[in-house]
Amino acid sequence: MSSAGPAGTDAPAGGPPAAGFLVALEGGDGSGKTTQQRLLAGWLAQRGHEVVATREPGGTATGLALRQVLLAPAPGAALAPRAEALLFAADRAQHVAEVVRPALARGAVVVTDRYVDSSLAYQGAGRALPAAEVEELSRWATGGLVPGLTVVLDVDPATAAGRRGRDAGRPGEDRLEAESLAFHTRVREQFLDLAARAPARYLVLDAARPADAVQHRLREHLAPLLPVPSGPARAVAGRP
Ligand code: TYD
Repeated sequence: MSSAGPAGTDAPAGGPPAAGFLVALEGGDGSGKTTQQRLLAGWLAQRGHEVVATREPGGTATGLALRQVLLAPAPGAALAPRAEALLFAADRAQHVAEVVRPALARGAVVVTDRYVDSSLAYQGAGRALPAAEVEELSRWATGGLVPGLTVVLDVDPATAAGRRGRDAGRPGEDRLEAESLAFHTRVREQFLDLAARAPARYLVLDAARPADAVQHRLREHLAPLLPVPSGPARAVAGRP
């Protein structure tokens, strides 16, 4: 498996070796990923990195169309778990091919709001699809591209639901958000499990802490992992 870090090489299907660095922000709904991404992108740009802030699902035009299907409450029969897994994988395949790999090849730092671990947590643990199959699907979709660092913003699902300002099941929630507390608890446990299995590639942060404290710890951890910046302070590209 390849990783998008300083020493990363890519799978044969995946194009040229990555020169940049891929950071994935993971965690439950309402864990503050968007805020952390914004703060991190600003800091990285200040340090002279080309920064691409992006997300799944919906980091490309094709992905935005898939996002509609994936997150809108289903009008008819519920989306089958395997169909859901395939659509997230399709979004990811397009995202990696169109946005992530080209940016890494230019030497950019890519910060993605969700990546493979979201599928392992939501479709694997949440929907109870076989973990090895969901993993293989994502590996195929990405050509084996693994983040240099995955940050798990860990928060108790009940606290996160409160932060979003609504209780599970209320109107206005997307299809996944509206799932039960038991579902979101399985999702949380899976993120923590994945981190525990490969601690060198993960950073778990307590997302119940104030956003600036979380960001401080993230910067501290990430700084020594980053490639040498290629220029003066830059603008941030890309958050859809
Ligand atoms: P989004 O509005 O982007 O929420 P968040 O701010 O929490 O990231 O919605 C993404 C939803 O899609 C979220 O509930 C998690 C879910 N998801 C999966 O179930 N599988 C996946 O592979 C991905 C990328 C997201």
